[in-house]
Amino acid sequence: MSGVTGHARALSAAAAVALMAWTGAAASAAGAAPAAAPAVAPLKIGIIGAGHIGGTLASLWVKAGHEVLVSSRHPGQLEGLVRSLGPGARAGTPREAALFGNVVLISVPYGALPQIGRDLKAELSGKIVLDTGNPYPQRDGDMAVQARRQGTGVSSAEFLPGVRLVRAFNAINSGDLASQAHRGGERIAIPLAGDDSQALEVAQRLVRDAGFEPVVVGPLARAREFDVGTAVYTRLMTAAQLRQALGLKRAR
Ligand SMILES: NC(=O)c1ccc[n+]([C@@H]2O[C@H](COP(=O)([O-])OP(=O)(O)OC[C@H]3O[C@@H](n4cnc5c(N)ncnc54)[C@H](OP(=O)(O)O)[C@@H]3O)[C@@H](O)[C@H]2O)c1
Repeated sequence: MSGVTGHARALSAAAAVALMAWTGAAASAAGAAPAAAPAVAPLKIGIIGAGHIGGTLASLWVKAGHEVLVSSRHPGQLEGLVRSLGPGARAGTPREAALFGNVVLISVPYGALPQIGRDLKAELSGKIVLDTGNPYPQRDGDMAVQARRQGTGVSSAEFLPGVRLVRAFNAINSGDLASQAHRGGERIAIPLAGDDSQALEVAQRLVRDAGFEPVVVGPLARAREFDVGTAVYTRLMTAAQLRQALGLKRAR
């Protein structure tokens, strides 16, 4: 898919208005008076892979007022995490997380993406999905070699057909995700790439709510610019530094 369009055009009017409410983009774009615009509603976020990255983001997003369903193939093991997250969190299976979320975070070993894309195709269809995965051949096998070659934006889209995909939170270490969130001074930038403009809006909101500054690099094909091994990967740059490093002229 090329350009920032994709499924956005196919959205029903009701879904489009709901998305704008989530993102804070005024209902005026849908023809309503700005004064009637709904307050930005909390999101329901399904989290598939509640490990280092998924568990940290669950905590940051619950603190920001969102509802999360963290998932595991062994959901009973998440009782402690859910207790520590408080009433905004519950636990379930990956399928339940896919069904629960208006937005779904997938944060699993990259080698699991094809299976998740197949098994949860119906549940994830049309959903905004944030993918944090990085391919490591030693962990994920040959598919990771190919994913690195073609870039993760392109390969993740192949593994997760029918979703409104955004590459997000793949270029920061989990320790930094926890320690740098909401830091004083200029925030640390999180690069994003996606083909769907509304999905990117939601992703930017979730980056801000996690305590970071979003930088939209471009469509999925440009996600490779912040893949493992690039000059910006895990470098903890401000938005201005990241834009300069990637040759992005201005805030997008
Ligand atoms: N750690 C980092 O600093 C970092 C930074 C940036 C990006 N990343 C990338 O982000 C992804 C997640 O990293 P992480 O460090 O958070 O991993 P992690 O701590 O190992 O957690 C991964 C989670 O994925 C779940 N999982 C594994 N296979 C699954 C499957 N087939 N279906 C559903 N869930 C499955 C596991 O849950 P159950 O076993 O309980 O089901 C586990 O909790 C990886 O691709 C990693 O390369 C990591």
